[in-house]
Amino acid sequence: MAAAASPKLPALLLFVFIAAAGVAAAETTTAALDEVCRGLGGFYVTPELCASALCSDPSSPCRAARDAPAVAALAARLAARNATATQAALSSSLAAGNATSSKEEGVRACLELYGVAVAALRWAAASVAAGRFRGAREVLFAAQYVPAGCDGMAGDAAALRRENGGFSYMAMVAHAVVASMIRD
Ligand SMILES: *[C@@H]1O[C@H](CO)[C@@H](O)[C@H](O)[C@H]1NC(C)=O
Ligand SMILES: *[C@@H]1O[C@H](CO)[C@@H](O)[C@H](O)[C@H]1NC(C)=O
Repeated sequence: MAAAASPKLPALLLFVFIAAAGVAAAETTTAALDEVCRGLGGFYVTPELCASALCSDPSSPCRAARDAPAVAALAARLAARNATATQAALSSSLAAGNATSSKEEGVRACLELYGVAVAALRWAAASVAAGRFRGAREVLFAAQYVPAGCDGMAGDAAALRRENGGFSYMAMVAHAVVASMIRD
């Protein structure tokens, strides 16, 4: 009966609890991105990798995303944009003669792979923006394998490998973020 004898103690504890919850809620709303990025361990994505991929484009302020679905929309949009930019970079690199002739055919096949991925990723970005995650998750899952396919095709041309490698991180992070929205 100690609690009944001193009613001030439970009241104080309740106040502390509410204050702590208030702080936690404020943090959640100011950085939905960090909250989402902290929950991707099951996909082998660290919070650092997640934040560096999603915050790499200064024209899309990553911490402006107000909640988890907005973070997912950002991730899908960046994946589509990144694939588009990677395709363009590979294409101009090929035009600049950066692939040795024995590799040229491989790079062309790689460009075709990116072309298919870009179209699918644009659809996925629109889908996630509309709050639909399932089909987009499958597209992003498949997109993770585009760089691996291109790696073999592009061979050892350093500039090509760098571009291609950048997309592999983006695809991995975007897939993890969108997949984490789905409770199976
Ligand atoms: C794609 O995203 C990765 C990860 O943020 C980045 O390192 C790379 O430069 C981007 N590629 C392009 C072509 O924007
Ligand atoms: C071609 O490769 C060189 C050396 O890696 C690089 O500096 C240059 O930017 C590349 N050109 C294109 C268009 O990617």
